Formats: sequence, structure tokens, C-alpha cells
Amino acid sequence: MTRRVLLSGGAGFVGSHVAEAYLAAGDEVTVLDDLSTGRRENLPRGVRFVHADIRSAEARDLLAQGRFELLNHHAAQMDVRRSVADPLFDLDVNLRGLLNLLEGARAGGVRRVVFASSGGVVYGDATAPPCREGAAKLPISPYGVAKLASEHYLMAYSRLYGLDVASLRYSNVYGPRQNAEGEAGVVAIFSRKMLAGEPLTIFGDGEQTRDMVYVKDVAAANLAASDRPLPPPEGLDTRAWNIGTGVETSVKRLAELLAAAAGRRPAIRYAPERPGELRRSALAVEKAGHELGWAPRTGLADGLGVTLRSLAED
Ligand SMILES: NC(=O)c1ccc[n+]([C@@H]2O[C@H](COP(=O)([O-])OP(=O)(O)OC[C@H]3O[C@@H](n4cnc5c(N)ncnc54)[C@H](O)[C@@H]3O)[C@@H](O)[C@H]2O)c1
Repeated sequence: MTRRVLLSGGAGFVGSHVAEAYLAAGDEVTVLDDLSTGRRENLPRGVRFVHADIRSAEARDLLAQGRFELLNHHAAQMDVRRSVADPLFDLDVNLRGLLNLLEGARAGGVRRVVFASSGGVVYGDATAPPCREGAAKLPISPYGVAKLASEHYLMAYSRLYGLDVASLRYSNVYGPRQNAEGEAGVVAIFSRKMLAGEPLTIFGDGEQTRDMVYVKDVAAANLAASDRPLPPPEGLDTRAWNIGTGVETSVKRLAELLAAAAGRRPAIRYAPERPGELRRSALAVEKAGHELGWAPRTGLADGLGVTLRSLAED
């Protein structure tokens, strides 16, 4: 059965792959995006596009009147460092924007909301990786606080109005169309430098780890969270799923894998560690396996190869 889906942020990196996944499943997709970091060229053929800010009356009215069954919310201020430099802007886009859409969704009878949260930032560094959904939540950036608060708002709307909600806590997403500012920006930065024959800069000793998940696997998780019956909403973590691989990859190793994929031997420079960066990060993904029937499928070397080739064509 065709669903009417409103996808915010669908002109962005992750959102554009999510749009493709919905289209492939036969859904009718409307993308809402202000093109602040997204690009029109990212929009797949077959989507309807509304150029508007998620904080606008136009966006709220679209949801209130558009007879959508599903809201998938990917639009965000997603730059962690910008959230530290300008926390009020982060709050405005990430929380006021979410609430504006939720008010529209409530008025329009939307049944389910799928939200792009972040496992890379909601847990902080209180728990040794891999973090399970129940781990302590101690975000260390305004962006992380906004993601966690967004999950709480969704749960409140679930309690108040019976909205069905699902938060997907991504690890570091990489793949074609990715930009340098996102949480896995290092892949885009290293790839571009390598293709230009420039040295790579590693901040700190390069032993800091990240959980790298391929964007098409993330898009598949969005479909699963849109389709599946979900467990009763009894607490924040019952409606949250880590979407990652559970594997820690060091920044140094990432540089080696990219160099192998490119067939190059880039010079590596070391620079002082950047304050506020997590030392280690990985997400346990068994809950998504059991409850959403989802698992990551793309190996890192394969995914990096595809990403590098697509960035070379950009
Ligand atoms: N990339 C990652 O590794 C990662 C990890 C965890 C969570 N996320 C989350 O996934 C989502 C997508 O991230 P991304 O990496 O694709 O970033 P992105 O910048 O490519 O996508 C965000 C999209 O939202 C749009 N947007 C921003 N502000 C808007 C506004 N006020 N109104 C309307 N549209 C607006 C942008 O134009 C862009 O198209 C975000 O919510 C982000 O926090 C991403």
C-alpha cells in the first residue's frame, strides 16, 4: 500500500538516501528542506519538493493539511561545533523546528514519526563502548542535548496524543553525497584530500575510534522503523534504536582503508587533539536486530570504496 510520507531534510546527505528507499518501496514522498546545507541535485527523481524552513508556518500547515501518514524528520542543524559556538541557533532549528512539525503532524492526523537521533552524541563518554540503548545519557554538546530533548518531546507526544514514535540513534554515517561537516565528516575530508594529492591531517594520535555505518544501511533502518509494529512506549529507550555496526574503527585505520581503496599512499600529518571530541565510540545494535529486523550489511572497505568513487565524480 502506498504511504504518504513527509520527509524533512530530504535534500541532505542521509535524507536523500532515505527518500530513495521510500520511493523504492512504492511510497509517495514529499521532501521539505530549506537547502541550507542540502542540495537540489541530491533529490531523487519522483519526489515532490517543498522549499521551506521547518520553523515556518508553511511547514506546519503542510503537515496539518497534507494528509500524510508518516513524518520522517531528518532536517537539522547537524554541526556539533556550530552548536557549541551558537547554541541558541541549534536550539531554534533542532527543537523549535521539531515542535513546529509535531504540532502540524498532530493537527493533520499523522500516525508515525521517525526521527534521526544520534548515538554518537546522546550517550557522551560515560559508558565504555559499545553503548546499549539503556546506557547513561550525558551529552556533552548543545547538539547532543537537543537530540536527547527531541526524543523526550516525541515520547511526550506519544503519551499525550498517541503518536507512534521511533528514534534512530545513528553512529557515524558515511557514504555518497556526504559533506565535511557531519558526524562522519572525516571520510569526506580524507577522501577529498587524497584525491587532490594533499596530506591528511589527523588530530591527536589517531587512535580515537568511531562506529562507521554505511548510509544505505541507515536508509534501510528508516524503512524498518516506518513499517514495523513497535513495542509499547514505556520509556525513552523502548522507542529508540541504535543504528551502527558495533565495531570501533580508529581514525588511523580509516585513513589506511581509504588509502587502500584509492590505491594511494598519502602523507599523514599529526595536529593537536581537538577539545570535546569523544575518545571512543561504538553502538550495540542487537535491539534493532531483534525489534526492527535490521542489521548493517555493508562492510567498511566496500562502503569506503563506493564513497570514494562517488566523491571523485562530484
Ligand atoms: N551524518 C551523520 O553521521 C549523522 C549522525 C547522527 C545523526 N545524524 C542526523 O541525521 C540527519 C541528517 O544529517 P546529514 O548528515 O544528512 O546532514 P545534512 O546537512 O546533509 O542534512 C540536513 C538537511 O536538513 C536541511 N535543513 C537544515 N536546517 C533546516 C531548516 N531549518 N528547515 C528545513 N530544512 C533544513 C538541510 O538543508 C539538509 O538538506 C540530521 O538530523 C543529523 O543530526 C547524522
